[in-house]
Amino acid sequence: MKQYGYFDDDVREFVITDPATPWPWINYLGCEDFFSLVSNTAGGYCFCKDAKFRRILRYRYNGVPMDSGGRYYYIKDGDSVWNPGWKPCKTPLDRYECRHGMGYTRIIGEKDGLRCEVLFFVPKGGRCEVHRVRLTNTGAAVKRVQLWSFVEWCLWNASTDMENFQRNLSTGEVEVGDRILYHKTEYRERRDHYAFFGANRPFDGFDTDRESFLGPYNGFDTPQQVFAGTSGNSVAHGWSPVASHRFDLTLEAGKSEELIFVLGYVENPPEAKFSAPGIINKAPAEELLEAFGTPAKADAAFAALKGYWDGLLGRFQLESAVPELDRTVNIWNQYQCMVTFFMSRSASYFESGIGRGMGFRDSNQDLAGIVHLIPDRARQRILDIAATQFPDGGCYHQYQPLTKRGNHDIGGGFGDDPLWLIFGTVAYIKETGDFSILEEKVPFDNQPGTEKTLLEHLKISFARVADNLGPHGLPLIGRADWNDCLNLNCFSDNPDESFQTTENKTEGSRAESLMIAGLFVAEGKDFAELLSQPAVSADPAYVDEVREAVSRMETAVKQHGWDGEWFLRAYDYYGRKIGSSENAESKIFIESQGWCGMARIGADEGLCDKALDAASKYLECEYGLVLNAPAFSSYIKDYGEISSYPQGYKENGGIFCHNNPWVIIAEAMAGRADDAWRHYCKISPAFAKDQSLRKVEPYVFCQMVAGAEAAHPGEGKNSWLTGTAAWTWKTVSEFILGIKPQYDGLLVEPCIPQHIGSYRVRRRFREAEYDLTIRLTGKGGSFRIPYRPGFQALEIEL
Ligand code: GLC
Ligand code: GLC
Repeated sequence: MKQYGYFDDDVREFVITDPATPWPWINYLGCEDFFSLVSNTAGGYCFCKDAKFRRILRYRYNGVPMDSGGRYYYIKDGDSVWNPGWKPCKTPLDRYECRHGMGYTRIIGEKDGLRCEVLFFVPKGGRCEVHRVRLTNTGAAVKRVQLWSFVEWCLWNASTDMENFQRNLSTGEVEVGDRILYHKTEYRERRDHYAFFGANRPFDGFDTDRESFLGPYNGFDTPQQVFAGTSGNSVAHGWSPVASHRFDLTLEAGKSEELIFVLGYVENPPEAKFSAPGIINKAPAEELLEAFGTPAKADAAFAALKGYWDGLLGRFQLESAVPELDRTVNIWNQYQCMVTFFMSRSASYFESGIGRGMGFRDSNQDLAGIVHLIPDRARQRILDIAATQFPDGGCYHQYQPLTKRGNHDIGGGFGDDPLWLIFGTVAYIKETGDFSILEEKVPFDNQPGTEKTLLEHLKISFARVADNLGPHGLPLIGRADWNDCLNLNCFSDNPDESFQTTENKTEGSRAESLMIAGLFVAEGKDFAELLSQPAVSADPAYVDEVREAVSRMETAVKQHGWDGEWFLRAYDYYGRKIGSSENAESKIFIESQGWCGMARIGADEGLCDKALDAASKYLECEYGLVLNAPAFSSYIKDYGEISSYPQGYKENGGIFCHNNPWVIIAEAMAGRADDAWRHYCKISPAFAKDQSLRKVEPYVFCQMVAGAEAAHPGEGKNSWLTGTAAWTWKTVSEFILGIKPQYDGLLVEPCIPQHIGSYRVRRRFREAEYDLTIRLTGKGGSFRIPYRPGFQALEIEL
């Protein structure tokens, strides 16, 4: 069982001690509109606002070796050439360490008495990466060494950058200053933005043409200039623009040299684009370099960033007897929620940044992880999302972060989407008490003149599902529900078409979803509760209508959605059951057990307990609960993409971590603490023992871990950008630790194994600060804390 690193909780870092991790282990920098992905070997890229349209660094997907390209520093010390992050030269180091922290990454390499430490961060209020490079001569003799920086520019649109070579190889343009290298491709025409890479002192040489720096047939691991100890002082005209500085340094014994690099992005107003014909206005770049370009300024910016994260994470802090739990709650789960909120499902080492932008359902769910941290941004996000709704309540499945416009290629038609707007809004108001958001005027499909209040949007969302029921009175699934791959109205045998958007059975579509039924009941109850708040003053007749629709749905589920031991998953186009003991394969699915369980449908008759027992019995394996079992062994045209995956992976029998929390919450609602805890520990990375097996980052949740039927069970994939982050946060904070935000205060209602004893939660809630010590005495129950601003320390026995 090879381990590659460890948690250093005191400083909120994960420390990687072996650079050759089984897969690049990455971190994210940035918390406003400039973001970077940085791997443990300094690979990755950055962008401003939009990973597709404003890509700053080029990155090669499917690269060999993997994770090629990034911000590389090369050191030449005598005959030896090495990088502090080991890659790309892979020269063996005497010491290597990568510390991924909250919004920063520190990489330390040491060789032959020379230490190079690079701190990467994106400062608050600056559209740039700051690289603080510190070289220390740890030996007894003077050292003369050379240092090169290196980045490769992307020609802005990350998609066409990979395709349109007949144009791209001619458009590249740069300018060269004495400290700053500028990338200004397309600035001459419609772009008002350029990128730059600057150092805080004049360089001894530079390159801006890739072939000059590397040599036409070399990779990043053998740059010809570095091995020759030179720079080409090349000025790129087309081909592939890069930026590399060279510094020739003399280091006295025991002494350090520090250089600060700023990799930044500038937007100029149209009237101030140029300082002379064809010459870009460089003042903003110089200012940005100036702002961070001394050790004292970089220190201050880094301290401010640390302060920001300390402040954020301080809003919910746990002290318990379980270090893995504390680590998850206090550090990594909250951090991942922030990253997921920023990125949605756009840019990771599994998401290319050029595909889907923000998902309607995804972004709504992500809110649950951050409403307690950055409520103002949650508020704006809700309004942005709502503006991509259609007047009939349907909504664009995805929208682009830069334009905030819906994505026409995919369109709408996913049966579950509208309900998530209720989910997100309820989470926001319960946390903040800000009912005024319901009165905000929001357009449809971003069309001016179509504005209605957010409350109206919620009503239309609810009606969209309530009014689109199938033959059993259950919600129509459309292109898919939460499970994008259960495509019951698409009968595709053409590999060149999409499973989701090829609709050949919209007319008279009858396929129904039990997952949406559960979601409808759960969200319908939440919606009715929201409408009943004094601050909302909804028409009581309308509230009754909502409650009646919910109750009709419950009846329909009990009548047509119960299979005897668990909830069915769906009815297909032909009205046949899916997820039933009658089926040959995939007799049981997780989503409907989770959602009908959370909606407490048939709880009094024991249905929820039975369904949860069945989930444990048929879906649980060593690493969590698989999505469906037994997995499909061949492609079934009537079901779509779900059966396209090999057994045990993704939506076909994988542990799709996003939906495990639904079962865990349902377990907690049923008061089954030990089951809830067991399921929770299985999917939580902090409890995973074998880093090699898991393969991806040990500090974040994955979208998917290979399930029992896979060739390699336990192997994680698609780390970072997953609804798992927000859902596990909701699970652990509200249902396991039991701190539930309510409209009028907090409800403390834990569901945690007795052996954990007692724990302390310090939680910021609106203008209140609670210090809660919760002692588990075995008597159970709940404790209500009416909201009042100020500090309150409470000891609660439950
Ligand atoms: C991915 C998608 C999400 C979907 C899930 C299940 O995580 O981002 O929207 O619900 O897969 O298919
Ligand atoms: C979700 C699923 C993935 C599917 C995609 C289609 O992300 O996880 O398997 O291909 O949706 O949009």
